[in-house]
Amino acid sequence: MKKKLLKFFNAIKSRNGEYLNELRNDHEFFKREITNNLEGMTKRLYKHYKYFSLDYVKRIIGHFKDDALLSNPWCMRYIESEFLILNNQIDLIKRLKLNGFDLKNRTVLEIGCANGCLLFACSKSGAKKLVGIDISQTRLKNAREFLGEKLLKKKVELLLIDIFSQDLPYDKSSFEVIFSTNVLEHVQSTHDYFGRIKKYLSDKTEGCFALTSVCNKYNISSILAEPHYGIPGLILLNRKEASNIWYSERKKLFSNLDYEVFDWFLYEEYQNIAFSQGLETFPLLDKYSVDSIDAHLKNYKDFADKYYIMAIDKLTNLCLIKSNNDILAGAIKKYFDEFIKDHTEEEVTPQRKVYLYLKYYAFVLEIITMHKSDSLQSASFSPG
Ligand SMILES: C[S@@+](CC[C@H](N)C(=O)[O-])C[C@H]1O[C@@H](n2cnc3c(N)ncnc32)[C@H](O)[C@@H]1O
Repeated sequence: MKKKLLKFFNAIKSRNGEYLNELRNDHEFFKREITNNLEGMTKRLYKHYKYFSLDYVKRIIGHFKDDALLSNPWCMRYIESEFLILNNQIDLIKRLKLNGFDLKNRTVLEIGCANGCLLFACSKSGAKKLVGIDISQTRLKNAREFLGEKLLKKKVELLLIDIFSQDLPYDKSSFEVIFSTNVLEHVQSTHDYFGRIKKYLSDKTEGCFALTSVCNKYNISSILAEPHYGIPGLILLNRKEASNIWYSERKKLFSNLDYEVFDWFLYEEYQNIAFSQGLETFPLLDKYSVDSIDAHLKNYKDFADKYYIMAIDKLTNLCLIKSNNDILAGAIKKYFDEFIKDHTEEEVTPQRKVYLYLKYYAFVLEIITMHKSDSLQSASFSPG
């Protein structure tokens, strides 16, 4: 009997998987489904992302139905990111624990908590008190709905606060753990951002840390398609150049997204900025990930040739204004020259391997930050 039920369940799961794939990859199908079959679409997504209620899923999808976002070919990816993030956050908490960062009985702050997925994961891991802040009223509304009355009464507090212009109703050094995932690329000043972490992170208790995650700008996927705009090479430009290109091309790319484009940095640059604020940083690394670059190190030339052609082809297919195309093609060429140069070292020491991993291969940078210890007051970062 159990076997039969399992078989039935797996069949539904794989049918839902195929359906999701079609929604993701066939924008016309997605548009038809969201317009004519919202009910059915909601049910299938609900079955796939089991932690969220049916009403919640429906509301999230409904928002995309009426929104100007509907014409954006990446629309389904935005919808999915609202749900998928929960699995990533649960996984992050598990990996932190494996590395000795336990949340049991900790007081936690999350900056940019959005729909509360990380707060939910922290509460499951035994955190004592949780405060989530966000500048978006809509995101906090989602968080309230997702977390539910019980959690909100017991240990989660949600506050509408801009971390840069408002103070929290808490003293400095109030939090033993601070999380802020996927926020750094949206902030005006990375320097001020680390300053706020320094202010609210406790420097007293053993095991206090902040965890920041940010997409790695030099990972090949970011070069092929900047994570928010999808334009090859855009991530390599400075803020002004990137936003000029984005605003002149976005209509042609069927996007009404009105984001700001900010500067992205490499791990060692984030490390130096944090250091200048009196903080020291460590990458959250799994040994397995670093070892997995061995195959790339052997085939780096083939890798560079293949992806250089792919990036330029993708760029050409967008048919951008010639001057924009030239700027992006130039940046892509420069990136691959640097990639080759960085890989042409005779001996790759373990330290160098970590450096290369953080620079090119990590998909996301996960940065652990703590108050600087006295012995580190005058040291500075030097890559391997
Ligand atoms: C890309 S989302 C990331 C959400 C969530 N942390 C995650 O990993 O999925 C960025 C979030 O940061 C919030 N945010 C951006 N700037 C902020 C600021 N200055 N103060 C507080 N929250 C901010 C946004 O409203 C948004 O919810």
